[in-house]
Amino acid sequence: MQAKFAEPETPFGVERALVGAHPAIVKLRALIERVAPTEVTVLITGESGTGKEVVAQAIHRLSPRSLQPFVPVNCAAIPHDLLESEMFGHERGAFTGAAGSRHGLLATADRGTIFLDEIGEMPIGLQAKLLRVLEDGVVRPVGADRATRVNVRVIAASSVDLGTAVAKGAFREDLFYRLQVVPIVIAPLRERRSDIPLLTEHFLERIRDRTPGREIAISREAMVALWSYDWPGNVRELENMVERLAILCEGSIIDTSILPDNLVAGARPATAPIAVKLSDGAVNLNDLVRELEGRLINDALKQAGGNKQAAARLLGLKRTTFSAKLRRCGVIAPASLDDREKDSTSKESYG
Ligand SMILES: Nc1ncnc2c1ncn2[C@@H]1O[C@H](COP(=O)(O)OP(=O)(O)O)[C@@H](O)[C@H]1O
Ligand SMILES: [Mg+2]
Repeated sequence: MQAKFAEPETPFGVERALVGAHPAIVKLRALIERVAPTEVTVLITGESGTGKEVVAQAIHRLSPRSLQPFVPVNCAAIPHDLLESEMFGHERGAFTGAAGSRHGLLATADRGTIFLDEIGEMPIGLQAKLLRVLEDGVVRPVGADRATRVNVRVIAASSVDLGTAVAKGAFREDLFYRLQVVPIVIAPLRERRSDIPLLTEHFLERIRDRTPGREIAISREAMVALWSYDWPGNVRELENMVERLAILCEGSIIDTSILPDNLVAGARPATAPIAVKLSDGAVNLNDLVRELEGRLINDALKQAGGNKQAAARLLGLKRTTFSAKLRRCGVIAPASLDDREKDSTSKESYG
């Protein structure tokens, strides 16, 4: 038996925290590495479950502040009337129930990073106060007549488009521009399907690590089903699904028999129309064409059980043209399924 040595502490790696090989994720990791060492304020936008907090933490961990606190604040989870004292702290007797004085989360994050999640939910009055923190680095606790200085890096996130909130008057325009010195947009999982097998394998690997001796893999058909589904809850939903399937799976291979109905049935019909209102003035024909193309490619692959040749035929395309379109739409998972078929005829499982 080999002697066990204490593992040296592995430095933080953004590849391990933010898994993915899709060009959008590769670019995102590069951007994280660029902004992390700076002091710049970052605004991360993306649907729920796309990895906004993962990105914020990665920026902090790769920054010179990494040994100082990372303080997450979910602006949507704290009642509006409490958010100010939570963030800024308060003096004794500042309001009914304020028995003692208290430090706020901004003070807690001093010299570190504060992560303001769902910042679009922040009341407009508080937005003005936050702007002062960003511009002058000063914090005035509720009920205090003096301000103190803090040194915090602000990373904000929103699952709704703040530009729209600004247009509606629900979000301060000056704060919006001050926050998004570097805007980071994370694509929903359905727009980077090629990462679904990779992420699935990552979550399976974590289960194997957690339960030594446990063998768990996923069948090709089940993988195609995961790949075809739209994942409205994004990576979080996929992560929870993999956990659930691993629990439900009696053997060592996750098969379609244990997939929930909506996953096997494959979300929505191929012909779901794309709603376009020309009067909106916001139509981008190229984007729409690409989306429709992506959907049709996706549906064809689903129908063909992941076989590229057959899917190309369904769309009346040459296989080479089809492959080029796959890459452009970021739909490359079934290619790897095909390839696996080629190089391992006997292996049925995935991962
Ligand atoms: N690219 C990724 N690689 C590995 N795990 C991810 C990735 N993106 C998201 N996750 C995981 O998905 C879950 C949701 O991510 P989170 O950052 O909380 O999303 P959001 O803040 O956008 O709602 C977390 O458990 C996170 O670890
Ligand atoms: Mg979140």
